[in-house]
Amino acid sequence: MLNAEKLTDELLQMTDAQPDLIVQRAVQRIHEQGARYDWVGIYLLSGDLLVLHSYLGLATDLTRIRVGEGVCGMAVAEGRDMNVPDVEAVDYYLACSAETRSEIVVLIRHDERILGVIDIDSDTPAAFGEDDERELRRIADTLGELLGPRLR
Ligand code: SME
Repeated sequence: MLNAEKLTDELLQMTDAQPDLIVQRAVQRIHEQGARYDWVGIYLLSGDLLVLHSYLGLATDLTRIRVGEGVCGMAVAEGRDMNVPDVEAVDYYLACSAETRSEIVVLIRHDERILGVIDIDSDTPAAFGEDDERELRRIADTLGELLGPRLR
């Protein structure tokens, strides 16, 4: 079970670290905390593109996703987190791996500005519950707080 507390504490001690390192650390820690988290990535928003910054899991061609496309781009366009229990039921879903069955996308924001998303794919159907949503939101909020002032 993902527990945000230890990770947010660790991230909050990285106030002097480069943003790249903070993003990489978050991906690494999330990936190692949950067996269901087969692919963990963070995309950062640049104009109307989500650009893959760091990930762990199978390599993907989806390194750039336009706002409004895929679950990630739709989350940004609609300004809300998305928990997709069955990716095959979503017509705008973009496949990163044929094994993926469910996906969760959580917005990273600073104040009202969207900085990017945490994107997690699972090979398990309906892998993510309310606990994941809540813990990932805490992590995303901490990332937003740390990265916001430095990503201008
Ligand atoms: N499934 C995502 C694309 C990124 S991969 O999961 C790595 C989407 O639909 O936006």
